[in-house]
Amino acid sequence: MSDLRETYLKAIAGAGDEATLEALRVQALGKKGEISLAMRELGRMSAEERQEAGPRLNALKDEINSALAAKKQGLADAALDERLRGEWLDVTLPARPRRQGTIHPVSQVTEEVTAIFADMGFAVAEGPQIESDWYNFDALNIPGHHPARAEMDTFYTHRADGDDRPPHVLRTHTSPVQIRAMQMQGAPIRVIAPGRVYRADYDQTHTPMFHQVEGLAIDRDISMANLKWVLEEFVKAFFEVDAVDLRFRASHFPFTEPSAEVDIRCSWEGGTLKVGEGDDWLEILGSGMVHPHVLRAGGIDPEQWQGFAFGMGIDRIAMLKYGIPDLRAFFDSDLRWLRHYGFSALDQPTLHGGLSR
Ligand code: PHE
Repeated sequence: MSDLRETYLKAIAGAGDEATLEALRVQALGKKGEISLAMRELGRMSAEERQEAGPRLNALKDEINSALAAKKQGLADAALDERLRGEWLDVTLPARPRRQGTIHPVSQVTEEVTAIFADMGFAVAEGPQIESDWYNFDALNIPGHHPARAEMDTFYTHRADGDDRPPHVLRTHTSPVQIRAMQMQGAPIRVIAPGRVYRADYDQTHTPMFHQVEGLAIDRDISMANLKWVLEEFVKAFFEVDAVDLRFRASHFPFTEPSAEVDIRCSWEGGTLKVGEGDDWLEILGSGMVHPHVLRAGGIDPEQWQGFAFGMGIDRIAMLKYGIPDLRAFFDSDLRWLRHYGFSALDQPTLHGGLSR
């Protein structure tokens, strides 16, 4: 019996694959296996012999079973190691140049804007791109007959025949996120809301889908002066200049009162834009103090709270900062354009690391 033990343990240790192991198992422990047969002999032994041989055979059976299991595991581990060695690849190698992607200017500028406003305590809020007309218009103090609805070249969705609820719209601005933020968090609020917006318009500076960033700050004593400071800080940080000159032009939006459009001083000398100097003015955003009707629509008491809001074109400030002449090319997915104007994926804009390099 000790021969049996040695023979099998040696064979198991030397087995090179699972099939060999299985054959050994059958040979030793299968119905007609050597050990099974030996166990059958027990019946013919005297009680004394049996008492001695029985436990020994059982122990041998257990030992061979565990040797088989251990070897099986060993083979599986070795196979896995082999596979890992074969499939190893160095993920730190740079991608092949032709496959290197770039960060789109819109993504880059959105990150830059988010970093700058985050530094001033603004969180990012979001809302859906398919919006009810209540959020896009009514709640923003633009009632059904208001000319602003027509001016916006709105895309409407269709309702099923016989369903005469007002259709949803592709949001024409990020301002509906003001209402959603008010409803969700109540006052005080400090958020920006970057995202896609839609208007039926197409020329060198307009595409039917473009990007805006909304800003909203509500507290007990927020004023136009706070708006002015925040926007000045933003423009300086964004255009990476020490001084800017902003011009607030009285304007009108249904959802703000008073309202102002904001221009920055610039020059176009030699065809390149310089921000902060020169005799030209460039409009970059609309803004104002949130209208009491709008606060009320968002569930906020205008007797207790007030605030400012602004809306800025992300694509537009991207064109300005990076000297990109045609907005339509932003969305053509032309690889040459993307490689030329795109940014490195490893260069995330931060205030301390530099916004753009
Ligand atoms: N929603 C306005 C637009 O799209 C911009 C704006 C936002 C103006 C917030 C004032 C306050 O033109």
